[in-house]
Amino acid sequence: MIKADVLLGLQWGDEGKGKIVDVLTPVYDIIARFQGGPNAGHTLEFNGIKHVLHTIPSGIFHPTAINVVGNGVVIDPVIFKKEIDALKTLNVDVKTKLLISKRAHLILPTHRLLDAASEAAKGKNKIGSTLKGIGPTYMDKTGRNGLRVGDLETSTFLEKYQTLVEKHKQLLAYHQYDYNLQELEPAWFEALEELKQLQLIESEHYLNTAMQSGKRILAEGAQGSLLDIDFGSYPFVTSSNTICAGASNGLGIAPNRIGNVIGIFKAYCTRVGSGPFPTELNDETGEKIRQMGREFGSTTGRARRTGWLDIPALKYAIMINGVTELMMMKADVLSNFETLQVCTHYTYNGKVIDYLPYSIDPDYLQPVYLDIKGWHCDLTQIDSKEKLPAALMDYIRFIEDAVKTPITIVSVGPDRKQTIKM
Ligand code: GDP
Ligand code: IMO
Ligand code: MG
Repeated sequence: MIKADVLLGLQWGDEGKGKIVDVLTPVYDIIARFQGGPNAGHTLEFNGIKHVLHTIPSGIFHPTAINVVGNGVVIDPVIFKKEIDALKTLNVDVKTKLLISKRAHLILPTHRLLDAASEAAKGKNKIGSTLKGIGPTYMDKTGRNGLRVGDLETSTFLEKYQTLVEKHKQLLAYHQYDYNLQELEPAWFEALEELKQLQLIESEHYLNTAMQSGKRILAEGAQGSLLDIDFGSYPFVTSSNTICAGASNGLGIAPNRIGNVIGIFKAYCTRVGSGPFPTELNDETGEKIRQMGREFGSTTGRARRTGWLDIPALKYAIMINGVTELMMMKADVLSNFETLQVCTHYTYNGKVIDYLPYSIDPDYLQPVYLDIKGWHCDLTQIDSKEKLPAALMDYIRFIEDAVKTPITIVSVGPDRKQTIKM
């Protein structure tokens, strides 16, 4: 039987997953999101249009591909409706091209309130959440209290909703958090009506049957491996398994039915929100990368923290995910540097190591850098591998050698066309 491929981020999110899914969609029949929710912001650019998707898979702009929101995703109906409405203005036929798993969990207005209350209570130790209600919704999922898309078709939906909201009210009272739920509920219930108009399916059956009949599936990840609930820089992580195994859980595709694992990384690193970031640059260089790369969040608009490429962290993500090929994004952003730095090792409790250890807290771990010659030329108009500058080819070979995995695409700009096959 044909196998499904998985595409995911290897750093702290925002690697450029949306762009690459859009570029690769023509060779797939189905694009399926497997985890996360509207904390994600996946940007696509083509024909002068820039579009940001939060819950809907990034294959939606192609004429034939079917897009599935898998059981592992959490859906905020209000944000979902906004996305659908924006797609309708672009004449995207969501009624036929978008399918939603009945097993996906719903983000309630009170989940968002709880997210805000929890962050406020943490004070300076806050996670830096996108405040979309992700953590509280996954807590209710694993706590076996959640509401699912499939519940919308049952007569007990309202009852279940009220029971959950009552529990949330007690938690909000515990946090002494002020809120006005009546202001939020009408839009939520209105958006549910729109959700009900879409195709709600048993996506595990749909996807496995599709594979049996030879259809090609690309599973689209959200966030990045270093934000994974198990393997990320806990507790500064998101609340789902962002790694390859998450595609099995989040879609019902068995591990032995997974084929290629495509790992997306930036030529440098960024992180948004709190938490340790070994190669972070809190100086002019970091600011230069932020400005050149327009590193401001697609979902929250927050400035992203920036730093040099971290090889031990990349190796870790490749190991955990079983990455078979790499795609390097935003090479154009590093065009104006005489010298680049790459973290090849760390010192950890005074010892030099070449792997990502349990704690990456700066009290224990510091990066060790190697200087690399920059390429100092504009890449954004380059359209083939042969025209890439020698210094960039050296950078690519250096990374491939260090992580023992081939780089198959280098991206030199946000547009679909600015994509070079290696
Ligand atoms: P995602 O969450 O992984 O889909 O990534 P985001 O969309 O949040 O952030 C990536 C940003 O970089 C978006 O604004 C993209 O348009 C942009 N982008 C993607 N690839 C490139 C590239 O190769 N060069 C430049 N300059 N920008 C890129
Ligand atoms: P995409 O799919 C970058 C970060 C938040 C915060 C932490 C927890 O666009 O790459 P949450 O809202 O999940 O409770 O936030 O995770 N975060 C992301 N950072 N890209 C994302 O998604 C992110 N989704 C969550 O900034 O630090
Ligand atoms: Mg993003």
